[in-house]
Amino acid sequence: MSQRTPLIAGNWKMNGLVTDSIALARAIADGAVAECDLLVCPPAILIPPVVDALTNRTIAVGAQDCHFAESGAHTGDISAAMLRDAGCSHVILGHSERRADHGESDKLVCSKTVAAHAAQLVAIVCVGETLEERDSGKTLERIDMQLDGSLPDGVTGENTVIAYEPVWAIGTGRTPTPADVAEVHGHIRERVATRFDTGIAEAVRILYGGSMKPSNAAALLKIDGVDGGLIGGASLNAEDFLAIAASCP
Ligand code: 13P
Repeated sequence: MSQRTPLIAGNWKMNGLVTDSIALARAIADGAVAECDLLVCPPAILIPPVVDALTNRTIAVGAQDCHFAESGAHTGDISAAMLRDAGCSHVILGHSERRADHGESDKLVCSKTVAAHAAQLVAIVCVGETLEERDSGKTLERIDMQLDGSLPDGVTGENTVIAYEPVWAIGTGRTPTPADVAEVHGHIRERVATRFDTGIAEAVRILYGGSMKPSNAAALLKIDGVDGGLIGGASLNAEDFLAIAASCP
């Protein structure tokens, strides 16, 4: 049995306004279960009211991106230190939507991860193959490239979480088979063990993301090597998000 506490993380993406975000955060906090760690990642501008709404609650707040620089002339960007200062403990980096919408490379994700670590934030580094890559048998090759390029030296089980999010499973209702998820998670852990060490590989949490919902959460979360979920659509509904959390083995 793994010593890793499951992490159930909600990626709210570009959704919500102040009033409904506060209500969502409070509803999640009111129904929180002790079996897993809970994290919500609102859009940047909603972080302060959500942090405020979760004062004295056990739910962590994270961001969806940060800049790699500490400060300076980067119009529209937000630094890791600012996120930390606003009450965040985590930041999602290298999500496939940022890789696609903003052309983020592995190298850029790596520099953001360094910045997150320097600001004492836990980096949730996302990797995942496209449908074309899966269909042509290139899944593990793609994951290796992303891991090698996106993870900096100095990764530990405390400062980094890895999220496996097959691009074709995000928001589509489709999920890989349990065998496919187990294969990729096992592969990621081995890659981390080879690059860093087995202690770090054993400690690092590897989340599954992509159409996780109450009806499939139990089956996904019990797969060997799956240490929680990174949830998009279903994290916008407190009942669904809490049902997923309650499915943790
Ligand atoms: P969905 O749960 O909506 O498929 O999104 C997953 C995701 O991208 C989480 O980061």
